[in-house]
Amino acid sequence: MYSNEELIKLAEDFVKEELGPDPSGHDWWHCDRVRNLALEIAKNEQAGADIFICELAALLHDIADVKLNESKQAGIDKVRNWMQQRIDDKECIDKVVTIISSISYNGGQNKPMETIEGQIVQDADRLDALGAIGIARTFVYSGWKGQLIHNPEQDFTDKDYRSNGKTAIYHFYEKLLKLKDLMNTNYAKELAEKRHKFMEEYLNQFYQEWNFKENQP
Ligand code: ADP
Ligand code: NI
Repeated sequence: MYSNEELIKLAEDFVKEELGPDPSGHDWWHCDRVRNLALEIAKNEQAGADIFICELAALLHDIADVKLNESKQAGIDKVRNWMQQRIDDKECIDKVVTIISSISYNGGQNKPMETIEGQIVQDADRLDALGAIGIARTFVYSGWKGQLIHNPEQDFTDKDYRSNGKTAIYHFYEKLLKLKDLMNTNYAKELAEKRHKFMEEYLNQFYQEWNFKENQP
C-alpha cells in the first residue's frame, strides 16, 4: 500500500493530530524525541534491530496511553485500526502492537520486552523521563494533575502516601531514580547514568534552597 518512508510520514501526521499539544508531557515533541533516541540506540546496538519497527513503534507509543484513552484496550485498538488501514504486513502490525501494549512502567511490574525493537523503544521512552527533560516533564505532568511541587511533611515510606496525594518530588523516588537500573541496552544505560547524576544534583540543590542551606559548606 505505502512505502516505509510514506508510512513514517503518515504516522507523524497521526501523532501530531492525536497528541500535538497534549498538556500532560505526551505531546508531539515527546514522541519525536523518543523516535530520535530509539534510532540512535538502534544504530549503536549490535543485535541488528529492525529500524522501521523501532521508528514506527516509537512514534505511535503514546497514542494508546491509558491516561489518554477510555481504556488500555481502546487505545491499543485505535493504533491497530490505524495500522490495518495502511499496512499489509500483519507481522509488522503485531510487533508494533506488542511493543506499545507493554511499554509502560507500571511500577516496574510489566514483563520484560521480548524483542530487541521493544527493548530499544522502551529505553528511549524511559530516557525521555530522565535528566533535564525528564524533570521538565515531571513538573508539567504534576501541574496537569494538580499536584504540589513538594510536601516536606509527608512521609515517602508511608503506604498510604498515594491516597494522601503525590507530589512532583515524590515522583523522583517512586520512579525516576529507579529507571537507570532498568535500561535494556548498553547505550541507554550510559545515557541514563549521566541523566541520573544530573537529577541527583538537581534534588540536592532543590533541598538546599528549600532549607536555606545554600550558603553553608
Ligand atoms: P511515558 O509513558 O511517556 O514515559 P508517563 O505517562 O508515565 O510517561 O508520564 C509522562 C511524564 O510524566 C513522564 O515524564 C513521567 O515521568 C511523568 N509522570 C508520570 N507520573 C507522574 C506523577 N505522578 N507525578 C509527576 N510526574 C509524573
Ligand atoms: Ni512516552
